[in-house]
Amino acid sequence: MKKLDKKLLDEAGKIRFKSEYNYALFEYYRSPKLFNELDMEGIDYSGVVLDNGCGSGGVAISFAEESEKVYALDIEPRFIGSGDKIAADKKIKNIEFIQGDGCDLPFEDNCIDLVLSHSVIEHTFKPLEYLKESYRVLKPGAIMFLETPPHYSFEGAHMPRLKKPIPMQLFLPRKFLYKFYIRTARRHPGWIKGGTDGSALLTDLANGKDLTMEKVDKMTIGRLRRLIKRSGFECLNERTYHPGFFDRFPKPLLSFFKKSIITRNFVNNTYKAFLRKPVN
Ligand SMILES: C[S@@+](CC[C@H](N)C(=O)[O-])C[C@H]1O[C@@H](n2cnc3c(N)ncnc32)[C@H](O)[C@@H]1O
Repeated sequence: MKKLDKKLLDEAGKIRFKSEYNYALFEYYRSPKLFNELDMEGIDYSGVVLDNGCGSGGVAISFAEESEKVYALDIEPRFIGSGDKIAADKKIKNIEFIQGDGCDLPFEDNCIDLVLSHSVIEHTFKPLEYLKESYRVLKPGAIMFLETPPHYSFEGAHMPRLKKPIPMQLFLPRKFLYKFYIRTARRHPGWIKGGTDGSALLTDLANGKDLTMEKVDKMTIGRLRRLIKRSGFECLNERTYHPGFFDRFPKPLLSFFKKSIITRNFVNNTYKAFLRKPVN
């Protein structure tokens, strides 16, 4: 079991958008949270693991320290110079970084023991293919861990945030929000939560880089459940997490908000599912 070093994680978190390398280190220090989720569910990660959308590669490297072999795949070669460097620094050899499409995996059927998917499905725009491919490469009885922020939550908006938690993503189009945050960061940087360093968009803005609006697919809990069913997976368990702000509500009311079809995609900022490929 890996232990979370909160101090290291907080420090890495503050500068995570400075470079891919900084982001990979942040992911590495954050990974004990993911191990903890798997441990709580009794899931074995000692075999062959595929991180399907590994980003900078920090999580995959952390798994390589515990697993027989890790394939870290991403459609963008983001890990080059970040994941590669950390793996070399830590003398980790049982990891293979692959530039490839998670919706068309370069693996045979039934060869993977565990698929990890953290904040990827909402970026693929082919979510059913993505799930089906993960299913295809898993061994029968093996698990896919799927995590994504529901679309109308603050995380799901994939935008910077204001210090005051105003849920603008519920009623304003993304294009408008994007322009609003760029303007606000220029004119009133003090309004932004975590300052410009707390957001990829605003870090790019501060560094004078070309800006593009990140596109995201509308991943609601209901849609995900339907996609999971169609992909053939059986859902062993689901967990949802909400921001501390909502703890001010009485527990029965919060529990209702977390489940109601009207509020669940805003109140829950993380949806996690443990999916099993059936043995037949
Ligand atoms: C928000 S990042 C998450 C990265 C990493 N899993 C993490 O938790 O930090 C989303 C990642 O999904 C990758 N991605 C998007 N579409 C993909 C696809 N079809 N196949 C593989 N990776 C994809 C992106 O390149 C990006 O690195």
